[in-house]
Order: sequence, then structure tokens, then C-alpha cells
Amino acid sequence: MIRPARAEDLPRIAEVEAAAFSTPWSVHSFRALLPLDRVVFRVLEVEGVILGHGVLWQVGDEGEVANIAVHPLARRRGFGSRLLEHLLSEARAAGVTRVFLDVRPSNLDAIRIYRRRGFRPVGRRTDYYRDPVEDALVLRLDLEGPDADAPAPTDPDPHLPSSNPPI
Ligand SMILES: CC(C)(COP(=O)(O)OP(=O)(O)OC[C@H]1O[C@@H](n2cnc3c(N)ncnc32)[C@H](O)[C@@H]1OP(=O)(O)O)[C@@H](O)C(=O)NCCC(=O)NCCS
Repeated sequence: MIRPARAEDLPRIAEVEAAAFSTPWSVHSFRALLPLDRVVFRVLEVEGVILGHGVLWQVGDEGEVANIAVHPLARRRGFGSRLLEHLLSEARAAGVTRVFLDVRPSNLDAIRIYRRRGFRPVGRRTDYYRDPVEDALVLRLDLEGPDADAPAPTDPDPHLPSSNPPI
């Protein structure tokens, strides 16, 4: 199940986060999100164990997927896609019409999920990430309109790499 994150979840969220990223967010950063209105902060829990989390924040009618992570031992079971879908539907319900996110161009596992959901590349931020230094690819999804947020067609996208290295 996917549910709102609570204070008592934070140690486990930090564990999943540390297993997922080279520069993980701290417990303190996650804690600061809990009271915020315009933040969708959710955990995915299976049989009482948190296996993933997602964060989307909203500014006006714009949303940003700020964090999405699944524990390495729980990947490739659809949890990441479910978390993403959940964040997007909450965003849409809150009036968000376009969603952005940053992703490492080398993070093809994540990029595939985003592309399948309809995100498209709209820009690049030079040397945006640390450990290791890497550009960020900026992806965008429009939620407005009757079918605007339907899953994307499977046509190849010339802007994105097609091989499958690790994160
Ligand atoms: C990106 C991330 C969240 C994806 O999580 P995930 O739970 O593995 O995602 P999913 O299971 O939805 O999809 C991943 C793959 O598993 C496949 N999959 C889903 N359900 C499956 C199942 N039941 N059996 C086999 N494969 C399955 C999906 O088709 C997808 O494969 P494909 O991309 O080759 O088509 C995860 O890899 C992660 O935490 N990475 C580190 C943090 C990170 O990079 N976050 C994003 C930053 S922008």
C-alpha cells in the first residue's frame, strides 16, 4: 500500500534512501517535509515494511518529482512505477498541470519508467549532480487535457540513450 509518510517512518525511509542514492537526503530533510501542505510525501509499504518512498512538491500548477526510491532488494516488481503513478495522480487532483523532474542521464532504470509514463526531455543542467559529477536531464509531463497524461507511445526517442548501465 501507498500512504502518507509519518514521523515514525523516517529512520526506515533514510535507510532506503541511503541504499538508493550516492548523496542521500538526510532524516532532517525528510522530517522538514512532513508538515508542508504543498508536498506529497508517500511511502510504499508491504506487510508492514517500507520498501520505497516518493516526494513531489507543488508550486502553483507546476509539480516536481523531487525524490523516488525503492530499496535495491525490492526493485523490478513495479513498486517504482506505482509510486510515480500515485504522486502524479495526487498532483493532478491538487491542480497540477505539468510536472518536471531531474534525472541523471546514466540512470536508465529511472528514465525508462519516466518515459513509459509519458515524460519527455526538455533540457539539461550542466554538472548538476555530485558523486559523481554529471549533468541532469530535465523531463516534463503535461497532465492537462483529456488524454494528456496517458502512457506514452513506444516510439524511440532520439534524445535518450538506449542501453542499460547502472545508476
Ligand atoms: C528508479 C527506481 C525507483 C525504479 O524502481 P523499481 O521498483 O525497480 O521500478 P519498477 O519495478 O516499476 O520498474 C523497473 C523495471 O522492472 C520491471 N518490472 C516491473 N514489474 C515487474 C515484475 N513483476 N517482474 C519483472 N519485472 C518487472 C519494469 O518493467 C521495469 O523494467 P524495464 O524498465 O526494463 O521495462 C529504482 O531503481 C531506484 O530506487 N533507483 C535508485 C534511486 C533513483 O535513481 N531514483 C530516481 C531518481 S530520478
